[in-house]
Amino acid sequence: MAHPIIFDTDPGVDDAQAIAIAMAHPDIELLGMTTTFGNVDITTATHNALLLAELAERQVPVAQGAAAPMVKPRHPAPTHIHGDNGLGNIALPEVQGKADSRSAAQFIVDTVNARPGEVSLVAVGPLGNLAAALQLDPALIEKVKQVIVMGGSIKEGGNVTPVAEANIFNDPHAAQRVLTAGWPLVMVGLDVTHRCVLGPRQMARIEAGQGRLGQVLAGSYAFYRSFYQQMLGIDGCCPHDSCALAWLVRPEMFTTQRGHLNVVTEGLAEGQTLFAPQERDFIESRWSGTPYSEVCLGIEGEAAVEWMTATLVGDA
Ligand code: BDR
Ligand code: CA
Repeated sequence: MAHPIIFDTDPGVDDAQAIAIAMAHPDIELLGMTTTFGNVDITTATHNALLLAELAERQVPVAQGAAAPMVKPRHPAPTHIHGDNGLGNIALPEVQGKADSRSAAQFIVDTVNARPGEVSLVAVGPLGNLAAALQLDPALIEKVKQVIVMGGSIKEGGNVTPVAEANIFNDPHAAQRVLTAGWPLVMVGLDVTHRCVLGPRQMARIEAGQGRLGQVLAGSYAFYRSFYQQMLGIDGCCPHDSCALAWLVRPEMFTTQRGHLNVVTEGLAEGQTLFAPQERDFIESRWSGTPYSEVCLGIEGEAAVEWMTATLVGDA
């Protein structure tokens, strides 16, 4: 079964790998990419999205979006993780194509309205574009098939602060709107992405299986891997953003829980995602006032990484 998606992204090494999966998997119909600041500034994000599509010899519309958070000042891009160019500082070819003339938010609105009930939004960066799309067309909540967000953390703790995951921390106000909008939403956070390690053996297979794109994925991975070696002591990297696509195509690899999400927008815990499970009563009802969402709390990590690798070597 084909899954038509818009991929909202801040590429980014792990974004790049996920984009390659979205282009390679026979059951994913990539309708377009929308870009956001996050791992890189917005111009670099758009450049990289266009470049990755060209390396795969694919015509994929790319619409540029949020350059900064909705409310808070923008933090500098994490160049120590993704490199200055977002792709591990490797030399990159020139980009030929141009971005769509529409904003990312307008692209989302137009694309979903053209196929109501069919399109999944897969968001793997800060959530300003989805928040802006909702502002343009609040009825989107009835018209998207589902929203899959790579971001947040329930039990795992944070990766940029003790409690916050990067995508949510980078724009907590947008995240609060998106995670509580009432559309069918699944959160794929650090609770599952940290259970997946893509090692050098798999990366060598991907490099061999993806031509020019494979060289860029492998070259950028080498830079990203050294960050994970220092930070988490693992030999490989966590393919965060690809996990959102694993949910799209192979949700049976995950365990989830239903409940209410909230995002802390101010103070020491800004960017923290709070989850009140459906079946629990708490001392007050204010944690449970938001619509139901689904959060991923478990994953078959090895199977998910094998799915990613197989997709990128053409065995999906
Ligand atoms: C998320 O933050 C970004 O750095 C990654 O691309 C991923 O989307 C992981 O916390
Ligand atoms: Ca990302």
